[in-house]
Amino acid sequence: MKTIDDLLAAGVEARRVFVRADLNVPLADGVITDDGRIRAVLPTVKALADAGAKVVVASHLGRPKGAPDPAFSLLPAAERLGELLGKPVAFAQDTVGPAAHEAVDGLEPGQVAVIENLRFNPGETSKDDAERDAFAEQLAALADVYVGDGFGAVHRKHASVFDLPAKLLHYAGYLIGAEVEVLRKLTEDVRRPYVVALGGAKVSDKLGVIDHLLEKADRILIGGGMAYTFLKAQGHEVGKSLLQEDQVPACLDYLKRAKERGVEFVLPVDVLVSPEFPDLKTKAPVNPTTVPADAIPADEEGMDIGPETRKLYAEKLADAATVFWNGPMGVFEHPDFEGGTRAVAQALLDSPAFTVVGGGDSAAAVRLLGFDENAYGHISTGGGASLEYLEGKTLPGLAALKD
Ligand code: 3PG
Repeated sequence: MKTIDDLLAAGVEARRVFVRADLNVPLADGVITDDGRIRAVLPTVKALADAGAKVVVASHLGRPKGAPDPAFSLLPAAERLGELLGKPVAFAQDTVGPAAHEAVDGLEPGQVAVIENLRFNPGETSKDDAERDAFAEQLAALADVYVGDGFGAVHRKHASVFDLPAKLLHYAGYLIGAEVEVLRKLTEDVRRPYVVALGGAKVSDKLGVIDHLLEKADRILIGGGMAYTFLKAQGHEVGKSLLQEDQVPACLDYLKRAKERGVEFVLPVDVLVSPEFPDLKTKAPVNPTTVPADAIPADEEGMDIGPETRKLYAEKLADAATVFWNGPMGVFEHPDFEGGTRAVAQALLDSPAFTVVGGGDSAAAVRLLGFDENAYGHISTGGGASLEYLEGKTLPGLAALKD
């Protein structure tokens, strides 16, 4: 895989360099609530601009339906990129149309343009190879060289991630280089005990990674919405909590295999419940109650791991040498239910282990809860991407950057 350093060594003065970034940042009423992904691509954009390239930055944002949709405009991300770079960034209101060409043609060496959300074009995400290829061809007309640095999207076989690099000289950016180096440490020669904390809403999103981790990890801690399907598999009633009934057999199988392989599989012992899902906008208090995990009332919904579980998970993380954490432990966006996620984030800081926080949500949680992101071994910008990497899957966006 050639890297941006190879490109810089070859010289980029006045060349148009297409940077596929992942600027898919969370927005609330058009305002960016966590700019971590924009900051993560800065070293690449800066280095190229400083070397005199004409930098064309492209990304997706959210999941628009293949047509322009103002709610998913990249404009706020482009503006933030400009602020962070400390210089104006041109913004094109289309992806491959006249505005994009005008913006790119207008670039002087060292200047940066951002084109509109790639997913406003159906060719970006199409399953049809020819349709994707046609869009990639249009993107290729905007640049001379490709730099892949959107780590969060490398698991997507999309035109700008997979098809475009084949059409241009291609290089891996600094972010992709750093992410892959860290994730390698979690798959090769892992220092033990290797403890994994998994949260998030759905078990079905984590099937592949749990399967893989049962062969690799020494201890797996489960939290978040997915915990309730495991509790159900253990024979407990979970009230109104999130439940994926169809995944109960898979959870049972994981519990059995963990036992056979000597992997410690730890589930919550208590949970915070409330009768209704909290309002995340007003954040009005809901006064939750704490109940044992095997006694969730029928009319209550589990929202976070309870105080005993927080203590238990902190103990289980304390002697780790390597920790991978993906997915919040509860509805951390509401103050009544941030405690579980906060406790795990703190336990990672207290542990002498090499700690990796993987995923859009858990990474955002760490920052939103006010933790110092630099105190962690690594905070990945990729949720799905880091999970699929750990599963040992071939990631289209990395495969496409191979020489
Ligand atoms: C992410 O948020 O994980 C990446 O930006 C990929 O987004 P996607 O899941 O919509 O493809």
